[in-house]
Amino acid sequence: MTSNASRYSRIAGTGSVLPPRRLTNDDLVRQLAERGIETSDDWIVERTGIRARHFVDPGVNSSDLAAQAARHALEAAGLEPAQIDLVIVATSTPDMVFPSVACLVQRKLGIHGGAAFDVQAVCSGFVYGLSIADAMIRAGSATRALVIGAEVFSRILDFNDRTTCVLFGDGAGAVVLEASERPGILTSELHADGRHADILCTPGTVAGGQVLGDPLLKMDGQAVFKLAVSVLAEVAHSVLAKAGRAEADIDWLIPHQANIRIMHSTARKLKLPADKVIVTVDQHGNTSAASIPLALDAGVRDGRIRRGDTLMLEGVGGGFTWGAVLIDF
Ligand code: ACO
Repeated sequence: MTSNASRYSRIAGTGSVLPPRRLTNDDLVRQLAERGIETSDDWIVERTGIRARHFVDPGVNSSDLAAQAARHALEAAGLEPAQIDLVIVATSTPDMVFPSVACLVQRKLGIHGGAAFDVQAVCSGFVYGLSIADAMIRAGSATRALVIGAEVFSRILDFNDRTTCVLFGDGAGAVVLEASERPGILTSELHADGRHADILCTPGTVAGGQVLGDPLLKMDGQAVFKLAVSVLAEVAHSVLAKAGRAEADIDWLIPHQANIRIMHSTARKLKLPADKVIVTVDQHGNTSAASIPLALDAGVRDGRIRRGDTLMLEGVGGGFTWGAVLIDF
């Protein structure tokens, strides 16, 4: 490898996994009706674009999904686990309080010795993780990183709250990021504003051997919607300007998959046609930190995203957090 002055990072391979249990909106409508909760396929599709999501079975944890997605990314990159010297997992639904999901993934894959840690930035977590891994590779403190987004949001959903439980799903996506003489990751930007911590949160915690507070997800959907729409276009423009690129240079917009209306609004503000947006929210729901790498891998594997394409990845979520990464794939 060359000196750090010309050291960049590039994506060497992508992978993802969805749990086999798939629930269409109608499946969920029937299950919620048994609890006396009323919703409909029409409402969910019209307000969010979601048609189905996947849920894990009992006993399956974020580290199981993360390890599977990572194996697929390693295969795509033609690399062995032993060649990885950094594991970053973005998750808000870790297997346990500690150790980190990243350390559990290390154990599952037989990786030893390199750094491994989790990033907690909710739905922006994957963009945060990618940006951190890029910085560590450029600095020379890592050479080949696994960056993974993995979630089992079904564990923290309140199935008596129809305003949130219809929105989320489980899954994992991963990339192998490796040192390169050519960029790869062109530029990235991360942001947070803790003043909005309460609009999207899972406030419970563990103390004295008990769960204190409510361990289920709460969201003020309209407040999140308004903030998301304004910050996503802003950060995309800022990242483009830093890289000296224009809106028209973007081949694929790969936004966090929360709501099709937010995604279309961002695309319009970037003057991108809807067919330049990778959309998986219809089939996956909102898988939080896993949604961007799941969408990236879907686009790569179905042949839409090709080597040399310019990709804009954008995350937004609880915290409130947001960020973007511009990539020459
Ligand atoms: N089925 C039927 N009716 C429902 C449902 C449901 N599942 N949920 C809510 N409603 C009703 C409400 O009770 C309300 O009825 P009312 O008018 O009689 O009071 C009506 O539908 C409208 O509710 P709103 O909350 O105003 O609906 P809105 O159009 O705002 O859509 C939604 C709600 C989909 C949550 C939207 O606000 C949204 O997508 N917000 C952003 C979410 C997001 O992007 N999250 C990303 C980050 S996620 C993370 O970081 C973990």
